[in-house]
Amino acid sequence: MASGSRDVLYAEPIDQVPSFEFNEAVSDVFGDMIRRSVPGYDTVMRTTGVLVAEVADDGDTVYDLGCSLGEAAHFVLAACGDKALRLVLVDSSEPMIARAQERFSAEPNITCVCADLLQVEFDKAAAFILNYTLQFIEPKARTGLLGRLHERLLPGGALVLSEKVRLDTPTCDARAVRRHHGFKRLMGYSDREIENKREALEDVLVPDTLADVKSRLRQAGFVGIQVWFTCLNWASLVAYKSGGHA
Ligand SMILES: C[S@@+](CC[C@H](N)C(=O)[O-])C[C@H]1O[C@@H](n2cnc3c(N)ncnc32)[C@H](O)[C@@H]1O
Repeated sequence: MASGSRDVLYAEPIDQVPSFEFNEAVSDVFGDMIRRSVPGYDTVMRTTGVLVAEVADDGDTVYDLGCSLGEAAHFVLAACGDKALRLVLVDSSEPMIARAQERFSAEPNITCVCADLLQVEFDKAAAFILNYTLQFIEPKARTGLLGRLHERLLPGGALVLSEKVRLDTPTCDARAVRRHHGFKRLMGYSDREIENKREALEDVLVPDTLADVKSRLRQAGFVGIQVWFTCLNWASLVAYKSGGHA
């Protein structure tokens, strides 16, 4: 995990909680924030490395979209050993990509790009990583984006996708949200911090249901869709372009 400060951004009373942004203050505490907010984050990062290593060979390109500090890339490098991959990290937040750039400054095969992933022309790739990012893309653009990623994958290539999900019924969803808040409390967040953050993310992080996510993947052309990790209202999936390894 990249080093950074402890997340106390929402610890004080705030009159009008501003909408959440991936700004300088958030990027400074992001490593701590995501680990204490997303159940299983470290497992998901490591397993992303394993899943990418299965499909990526010498000379292949792998993208991490919404890379933040580049945690997944760190584990892709570790899992891929001596393979000569080209890793392209994309994030629209300047402070995030600056930190990723600094982190990987000694890695000649890693390129960090500050851009809106909806505007990027992708090269053909063995894998796309989209961990906890699609949830910040406006819902009506999500299936089209997945379709574009599917089109740019090599046969047998993989998409690793992690999302916060909404449960199917209001009762189940309310229970899952309560449990997630319980998780955050155990990770050291106060009730005030949890409530302020919830308010900040309202209409910014818009979760699909898991059924919606799978349906979008199928519509985009993906096959072999598998949920490989889930905890409370968080899920990680892998999906393939047919042919090759898949
Ligand atoms: C929750 S973070 C992702 C965490 C990261 N993938 C990880 O596993 O550590 C979401 C990231 O997506 C980026 N992001 C959101 N919308 C984006 C867009 N349209 N284009 C590129 N990056 C975007 C944000 O700046 C943020 O860094």
